[in-house]
Parts: sequence; C-alpha cells; structure tokens
Amino acid sequence: MESTTNQALQSVIWAGTQLDLLDQRLLPEEIVYLPLVTTEDVWEAIRHLKVRGAPAIGIAAAYGVVLGSRDVADGVAEWLQAVKSSAAHLATSRPTAVNLFWALDRMTARAEALASSGADLSSCKESLLQEAITIQSEDEETNRLIGEHALTLFQDGMGVLTHCNAGGLATAKYGTALAPFYLALEQGIKLRVFADETRPVLQGARLTAFELQQAGVDVTLICDNMAGMVMSKGWIDAVIVGTDRVAANGDVANKIGTYSVAVLAKAHGIPFYVACPLSTIDLNTPSGTEIPIEERHENEITEGFGKRTAPVGVKVYNPAFDITPNEYVTAIITEKGIIKPPYNVNLKKLFQAE
Ligand code: MRU
Repeated sequence: MESTTNQALQSVIWAGTQLDLLDQRLLPEEIVYLPLVTTEDVWEAIRHLKVRGAPAIGIAAAYGVVLGSRDVADGVAEWLQAVKSSAAHLATSRPTAVNLFWALDRMTARAEALASSGADLSSCKESLLQEAITIQSEDEETNRLIGEHALTLFQDGMGVLTHCNAGGLATAKYGTALAPFYLALEQGIKLRVFADETRPVLQGARLTAFELQQAGVDVTLICDNMAGMVMSKGWIDAVIVGTDRVAANGDVANKIGTYSVAVLAKAHGIPFYVACPLSTIDLNTPSGTEIPIEERHENEITEGFGKRTAPVGVKVYNPAFDITPNEYVTAIITEKGIIKPPYNVNLKKLFQAE
C-alpha cells in the first residue's frame, strides 16, 4: 500500500486481518506500508527498525502476539501456549525499550485471564485483539495528556531542541516529546524547534524533521555536533526528549547522543525535560547501570549513507542508546503530570497513586 498524502502518518495500522506497518527505514523518501501476517514478520520489523520508538514497538509487538496465536484451532490451552511462545520470541527482538516487555506482559496477562475465565476459543481471540487495539488507543490519549503537561513549560517564542524521534511515528499519535509541538500549533503558540539529525540512523533528520515539517511546525535541522553552538547563541530555551526506559532512580535511557545533549544543556543553564508514558518507567530496574543497552551492526556507522564512509576493517563501537544520569534531568513529563526530583521518591509515589 502506498500513500502520498501529507496528513500525519500512522506507524502501525491494524487492518482487520493483517498489520499494515509503515516502513520507517524508507522515510522521508518513500511512504510504504508493509503487510505483516506472522509473529516473525513483526519480530523482523522491530529488529530491523521498520518500526521503532518505544511505544510503537510495544504496540506492534501486541499485534504480533495476536498474529502468532490467531490460527490455533485445537483449544484454549493450545492458544494460550501460542500466546506465550509468541510473546517470548518477540521479547528477543530488541532489549532496551521497556514498553516492549510491558506490552508483552500485558497481552500475556490478559490471555491468561481469558483462558481461565472459561471463554471459548473464538472469544479469547477476539478479546485479545481488543487488548492490542486498546493498548494503541490508550497510547494516543496518553500522549495528548503528556503534550498538555509539557506545553505548560513552554512559552510563545521559545526555542526547543529535541533529539532522535519521539513523535507520532514513534507512538500511536502525537508522540511524547513532540506532542507539545503539535498542541502548540493547534493553540497558535509559536515555538522554534531544533532537531538533532541523530547519527547514526538519522531518526532526527529522516523522521522528526519530516513529521514536524509536514505538520507545519517551525523546525530547523542541525547535525548532532551543532547542539552546543546553537545553545551558546542563546537560541535554545529548553530541551525535550523521549526515552526508552526510565530507571527507578530517574536515570534515563534514550537514543545515543542524548547524554551529550543533557550535559550541554546543564552547562548552558537550559532545562532538560524527558517526556514518557508510565509504561516507560521501570521501577524494577534500580538505576541506569542495569538498563541493557543494545549494540547494533557496524554498517550503520561505516555505510550509513548508502556508501562506505570509513576504512574497511576499522574497529567500530555502535551503542544504540546511552544513559543520562538523573542529576541532568530537570523533570519527567508523564500523562499523570510533571515529576520533579528526587526521582527515587517521586516515581514510586506516582505508581502508588495509580
Ligand atoms: O532506535 P529507536 O529509533 O527505536 O530509538 C528511539 C528513541 O530513542 C526514542 O527517543 C524513544 O524510543 C522514545 S519514542 C517516544
């Protein structure tokens, strides 16, 4: 399926019998939706960044569980087994974004409850599909709330820098870090957004600059190594990024380069905000040290622009994420409000209030 409209693109679409997935590797040049019909298709799409961004990965994985169990005809016990094995397989696709595991746990728990409720096989399947659809629709609502809270931190005329892509493409809609930009646009509040290109896979250039420009947001693309320069010019009043996992102490895992931006922000006295849903906060991980950091293939660095840009055989280190220690994080913006330090106390309180 191809589309050429300039409306906001949805990264994951449940199309009744298959998952239509926007191939984000091809953006911004081509808009192509891939029909996914098996768990393996979804695993492969997550692993190879056809779908990426923590919430979108979780949503795709939830549908991946549905696809992996829908053809079971023997009975509810066999169906539950297929749900569990699909979830276990999808959990090996990428290690850092906790939304993946959150969504898989939620789908498995729902399947277990359905199986023990005495429901017949076809209602179990239908209800599990509904759970995936709910995960997706809740994400849209959550992001709008995050955007509303985040927008209270910004005023007309401010310059805001973001890194990677935490936008509509990374979520069901609006994004997390980009949500306030869309709401500002709706409300006539003028913000100047600076998007880091985000080496090595260029999510900032290919995705953030693309989706903000499509929407009519004032966006300026810069290379990652220009962030210090634009801050020193006084053009940046705040930084806002998404995250793949927040540890219990407020340490934040996000796209590689985020830590450098946070250090630069602190050096310039600029607030550094992190926007995420509660499903990205992992109280079971005490600190950033325990967050698994994915390392990706060296080709992303040596041949990332479609041609070789480094000598053959050179040693390469390619971590996909880094950890920003909590002392650099001014506030964490969730659907439940704006959380300030001390994070080890206030994040726990957030869940106790749930
Ligand atoms: O490797 P990616 O593109 O999946 O990394 C994405 C990010 O780091 C995002 O900033 C994060 O997932 C937040 S998305 C709302």
